[in-house]
Amino acid sequence: MDFYALVNARYSIRSYKTEPVPEEIIRRILGAARLAPSAANMQPWHFFVVRDEKTRRGLFSNERQAWAAAAPVVLVACSYPDKAWVRSGDGKNHSDVDIAIAMEHIVLAATEEGLGTCWICAFDPALVRSALGLPGEMEPVAMTPLGYAEAEPLPRKRKSLDEIVTWR
Ligand SMILES: Cc1cc2nc3c(=O)[nH]c(=O)nc-3n(C[C@H](O)[C@H](O)[C@H](O)COP(=O)(O)O)c2cc1C
Repeated sequence: MDFYALVNARYSIRSYKTEPVPEEIIRRILGAARLAPSAANMQPWHFFVVRDEKTRRGLFSNERQAWAAAAPVVLVACSYPDKAWVRSGDGKNHSDVDIAIAMEHIVLAATEEGLGTCWICAFDPALVRSALGLPGEMEPVAMTPLGYAEAEPLPRKRKSLDEIVTWR
């Protein structure tokens, strides 16, 4: 897909078919995450592909998120903050920035594959840690269900360019 068409085609999908996603497609999507840029090329990330239904359900405590656990795959993007680049001037750790870029590569690659996604950061990190058995140095940053969309997306609401851009 042309890049601008791809960006236009991406929506947050909150209802999925149970149809499985072929592993080959998941691998292509993860390949796009692997090629994401990261500060100082530190690549301080690790991705979990959660296909097991019990584990998927274990990621969410809230019944209102049952739609996410019902997708055939949930991808969880984690960081190693201790392995990320830290800006010397102010000590800002860039692990969240790196994970966000990799995650958006995942989301756009999934769109190209005809799959739906939805960024999810409203989760209980302790629950996700325990469901995936994460080591202490690894932090769950974001996740997305991955699957074929069941519902049509809602219309997009966005601020105008004039509101969000300053030209100098
Ligand atoms: C960092 C981030 C965290 C988000 N967390 C959640 C979430 O926990 N649950 C959810 O349903 N949507 C979540 N979203 C999706 C946003 O609500 C959605 O992107 C926004 O409303 C715009 O809609 P669109 O993605 O369909 O264009 C998140 C998006 C981002 C970028």
